[in-house]
Amino acid sequence: MRKVKEKILLTRKLHDFAVGELKKRYRVIIHTGRIPMPRKELMSKIRDAHGLVCFPYDSIDEQVIKSAKNLRVISTYSVGYDHIDLDAAGRRRIKIGYTPDVLTDATADLTMTLILDLLRRATEGDRLIRAGKWSVIFGAHDYVGVDMQGKTLGIFGMGRIGQTVARRAGPFGMRIIYNSRRRLGRKLEAELGAKYVSFERLVRDSDILSVHVPYRSKTHQIINKGVFKKMKRTAFLVNTARGKIVNEGDLVAALKTKRIAGAALDVFDSEPVGRDHPLARLENVVLTPHIGSSTDETRKKMADLAVQNLIRGLGGKKMLHSVS
Ligand code: DGY
Repeated sequence: MRKVKEKILLTRKLHDFAVGELKKRYRVIIHTGRIPMPRKELMSKIRDAHGLVCFPYDSIDEQVIKSAKNLRVISTYSVGYDHIDLDAAGRRRIKIGYTPDVLTDATADLTMTLILDLLRRATEGDRLIRAGKWSVIFGAHDYVGVDMQGKTLGIFGMGRIGQTVARRAGPFGMRIIYNSRRRLGRKLEAELGAKYVSFERLVRDSDILSVHVPYRSKTHQIINKGVFKKMKRTAFLVNTARGKIVNEGDLVAALKTKRIAGAALDVFDSEPVGRDHPLARLENVVLTPHIGSSTDETRKKMADLAVQNLIRGLGGKKMLHSVS
């Protein structure tokens, strides 16, 4: 008797090579409609699925997990897994795969892009020209930014991405301080040229405060008005981690009142963000549409890893990267 193929649900399209790999083994259902996949559709299609490939915008909560009677593996195409109810999955012994490492360089590169952009006001200049407002040429005080050399970069969260940002920022002549759940070993600190400080001190001493912690209940809006009050008035905030780590209302107020000098954000409380968002109306802000890992090379590696995690998980093998 021919074995019936197990069912895999993909909540949106993935690279052809990755889908091809899955189709060799499974019956693959790909959602091609509205993104994120409407909840009703997700609930109905996941009901008899054995494996799920999902994305950071999909809310894989307890109700979704409960309705998925056959589900054994969730493979998320992301390093963050705050969109998955880990407890609910754990109770059902559902394995969870994710895609760290492969996107570290790309995300660190975007962080450096945003830091440079803020300090040298590149995007602001671009907006100015497009609006036909370039009026003075080469003035002593016009369109003036600040040097990167000699500035203190405060890294909040010294995991893979935080460390890679430190490696990139050192050669720019930046002084690096950090705060993290776990302090690095002395050898690695020396290698990165990074000094461990308290959260208070990080906030107070940073010229650029760059967020790299994962989103958890403990980090929910941990960057808020209390933090902005302690930051230097000349300081900038950069967030390429998760939007909900920052209290957006407090940030808008801090930017409007020039309590801090500016911010660059790749992630937001609720995405996507439109032109009417209060942040989009401010000049001292650079916004990018959640593109931390978005390079061709990285996205292919993420697809490969997400597929390998799924195949291994369903095959009873150890995943390449799993959430324990
Ligand atoms: C992730 O993988 O969690 C990133 O936010 C996607 O860019």
